[in-house]
Amino acid sequence: MNVQEMAGKLEIPVIVAPMFLVSTPAMTLAACSEGLMGSFPAHGTRTREVFEQWLVEITQGLKRLHEDASGSKIAPFAVNLVVHPSNTRLQGDLELCIKYQVPVVLTSKGAPTDVIARIHDYGGVVLHDIASQRHAEKALEAGVDGVIAVAGGAGGHTGTINPFALMNEVRRIYRGPVVLAGGMTTGRDVLAAQAMGADFGYIGTRFIATAESSAPLGQKRMIVESNATDVFFSASIDGAPANWLTKSLLAAGADLDVLRTTLPGKVVAAAETRKRWKDIWSAGHGVGNIDDIPSTVELCRRLKTEYRAAAGVFRSAALPTENLQDGTKQAPRAIA
Ligand SMILES: Cc1cc2nc3c(=O)[nH]c(=O)nc-3n(C[C@H](O)[C@H](O)[C@H](O)COP(=O)(O)O)c2cc1C
Repeated sequence: MNVQEMAGKLEIPVIVAPMFLVSTPAMTLAACSEGLMGSFPAHGTRTREVFEQWLVEITQGLKRLHEDASGSKIAPFAVNLVVHPSNTRLQGDLELCIKYQVPVVLTSKGAPTDVIARIHDYGGVVLHDIASQRHAEKALEAGVDGVIAVAGGAGGHTGTINPFALMNEVRRIYRGPVVLAGGMTTGRDVLAAQAMGADFGYIGTRFIATAESSAPLGQKRMIVESNATDVFFSASIDGAPANWLTKSLLAAGADLDVLRTTLPGKVVAAAETRKRWKDIWSAGHGVGNIDDIPSTVELCRRLKTEYRAAAGVFRSAALPTENLQDGTKQAPRAIA
């Protein structure tokens, strides 16, 4: 499969991003059933055996969906592999991707040519996480099929560059497939990403607050109650630059002033906080536009409706003017 064929299997150009301790087989399958690419990180499964169980569940689930499909597209799924040498599970997890012919592999942290070649050997597509033009250059040299440009404001390990600036820098060196990530919560946002030069949108945080996500209810509720200003950027929780829900940092006893003044990469919170990621919750700037905890299917349908409505508006070349016409101040939406 190449990226163009991959795009042809999607109802709208969206990848539901892989999220540690959030993505589940049920979420992945639900997204694929609606024609959005579902995904999960291999390292989100406790062991290689559990990873294999998930692959079996998803592969069989997709087979059933294809048998029952009534004309609507069933999307392929993707797995995130951390391809850095520090990942001791890499070889075993890669073997399983090959065994189950995972259609799309989302690689992060380093881009080794041999891993990419082995995925290409069975016809898999490799998309690689980047946060700068330099990262993109290195990934492209290694032979990836496309890049995932992770802009500032994304959930999880994030980039820091403004999405317009990052997209433009990537497009200066590369005309191939680009997935844009960071802060998207609506179908209209995905269309906007395409207008900026991206081919696909990568949506994470919005999907944490769904029924199928394995995030604790407290994290889902905190997302519904948070705005972008309640998201704290720090490289000192687990050593990599990431966005965290401020309220979860405070609940875990973290001192924000200490975090603010710690040199990047110096992990300060490991000792005095409970298990990172499990008790300190990550989310991106998109939280302020998340008001509910729907099922994954419901959310995917909403994204499709929004995307198509926005595409219709822009196709007719009429810029939406409802905000200009209605000068009234909108009351903040009530929290469900
Ligand atoms: C809780 C959480 C866990 C994440 N875990 C991973 C992961 O294991 N692997 C990965 O490649 N990206 C991970 N990400 C990043 C997402 O794949 C994606 O880049 C990001 O969510 C996109 O930005 P958004 O959250 O603003 O939509 C994670 C993000 C969040 C919020």
